[in-house]
Amino acid sequence: MKTLLVAACFAFFLLNAAESRRCNCDDNDDSEQSSYKLFVFGDSYADTGNLLNGDLNWYTRIWHEPFGMSDADHDNKPTGRCSDGLVQSDFLAKILGLDDAPTPQRMRRNEGVDLSSGINFASGGGALVGWNLDTQIDELRKLVRHGIIDKNLTKSVALVAVSDGSDYVDFPAEQADQDKLIRNVTDAIVDGVKQLEDLGVDSVLVNLMPPIGCNPWNTRMYNYTKCDDEKNKITSAHNKYLKEKLDDDESVLLLDLEKVFNKIVIPKTERLFQHRHVPCCETLEMDGGFCGQHDGDGNRNYTLCDKPDDYFFWDDSNPTQAGWKVVMGQLEGPIKDFLDI
Ligand SMILES: *[C@@H]1O[C@H](CO)[C@@H](O)[C@H](O)[C@H]1NC(C)=O
Ligand SMILES: *[C@@H]1O[C@H](CO)[C@@H](O)[C@H](O)[C@H]1NC(C)=O
Ligand SMILES: *[C@@H]1O[C@H](CO)[C@@H](O)[C@H](O)[C@H]1NC(C)=O
Ligand SMILES: *[C@@H]1O[C@H](CO)[C@@H](O)[C@H](O)[C@H]1NC(C)=O
Repeated sequence: MKTLLVAACFAFFLLNAAESRRCNCDDNDDSEQSSYKLFVFGDSYADTGNLLNGDLNWYTRIWHEPFGMSDADHDNKPTGRCSDGLVQSDFLAKILGLDDAPTPQRMRRNEGVDLSSGINFASGGGALVGWNLDTQIDELRKLVRHGIIDKNLTKSVALVAVSDGSDYVDFPAEQADQDKLIRNVTDAIVDGVKQLEDLGVDSVLVNLMPPIGCNPWNTRMYNYTKCDDEKNKITSAHNKYLKEKLDDDESVLLLDLEKVFNKIVIPKTERLFQHRHVPCCETLEMDGGFCGQHDGDGNRNYTLCDKPDDYFFWDDSNPTQAGWKVVMGQLEGPIKDFLDI
């Protein structure tokens, strides 16, 4: 019944966007559901299926095995998430008490889709590069303007997860340019936060960057025995600027992935993962290879671990589901305090 009503709402939206705000889909919610709305922006840390599906290649790999192998919530099948299972935005949705992570924007027209608890715009990209933050926020603005998302954004939470380092892949050689780039990237994030606040989103959670020098693609050259300190300096500078620019904003909570990841990859006390640097799914081809790749004969061009739960990293830069669970477990208290849950 609920599905039918929501589908009917959608037919109505498509026929007459201007009138569509009269169709109050919230009325179809069961009363148990959390009243939070969650809007997600950013990169592969938070994407739950916005990238195109298709024949196996580097871009579509997330729609193919072994991605999703640990994801009991989705029949252990690939769902377009860049992990063996749930990612950061899924665990945030759970913290907010939502039944499901918000629908990826690409699927919003699918039958039975319910946008009353938010929508996810995250996909590969950074603050400046690719399907970037500004573009993603524009999409939200359009949906609000067309009444597809209710313009009353009270009790809404945004996650700004621009943190996998995509903006720094082409890192300039000169110190002055490096500094300029980091300022540009952090300015773009701060600008995105202001745009969300102007739209009426009342709480914005912003990822600080994790120590990217400890990502497998940066530790592999050291046989996974140490982190790349030069790369970690990018993280420190990026986070320093973000803190300077956002620390005083009362509607912003900075999620300190640097601190939390460091606890895991550089343990001082308890060792949380047996494998902290080696990824579970590792390409055999350093240059351009990827987790999930096959050669012409259908043989795996990657190695896959037996127990992803023992690994913090899934592939060369993304945590496993177990990794995200621990990370978000550490951030749950601060998030609940901030939102007064
Ligand atoms: C906006 O929604 C909240 C509940 O989510 C409600 O309390 C408030 O009255 C609404 N504001 C307007 C102007 O409709
Ligand atoms: C920083 O941004 C400015 C203006 O947007 C641009 O002209 C400049 O090339 C950018 N610098 C870097 C290093 O990205
Ligand atoms: C890399 O580490 C593995 C396991 O710790 C070890 O067997 C191998 O010999 C190391 N290789 C190099 C080149 O150090
Ligand atoms: C598979 O990996 C090997 C290196 O181990 C590489 O030479 C080969 O080109 C790769 N095959 C494909 C189809 O990419």
